[in-house]
Amino acid sequence: MKKILVINGPNLNFLGIREPAIYGNNTYAALEDTIQKAATSMGLEVEIYQSNHEGCIVDKIQEAYNRFDGIIINPAAYTHTSIAILDALKAVGLPTVEVHLSDINCREEFRKFSYISLYAAKTICGKGFDGYTEALKFFL
Ligand code: DQA
Repeated sequence: MKKILVINGPNLNFLGIREPAIYGNNTYAALEDTIQKAATSMGLEVEIYQSNHEGCIVDKIQEAYNRFDGIIINPAAYTHTSIAILDALKAVGLPTVEVHLSDINCREEFRKFSYISLYAAKTICGKGFDGYTEALKFFL
């Protein structure tokens, strides 16, 4: 069974509270449940991890080396700033799908650039929770 690591970055634990007009009313627990159920129905094993800390996300990516078959990552604000997360993804070399709940291309200028897109095989944005299900399908 393929093992996929799902990583969610800063403030995503505040889903349901943070800016509902942009991110919706569903909670982070509901997102975890959606991902878990979708993975089970596709015959994939998932581990879901959330952190507000850049270094912890780098550590988690490094731990995936030789342990997982792929990574799904929503780096949240680190998308637009983190060369460290980009380098970690390149270092472990696992196939990676980048997900954003909102459409980062239709928001502020500073959200249009993603360091992670320089490595990710695919970027899915603006599809809310469904983006994670689509990302899981990439690994089938
Ligand atoms: C986000 C988009 C980022 O620009 C933002 O900083 C986030 C969430 C998204 O899922 O739409 O925190 O990655």
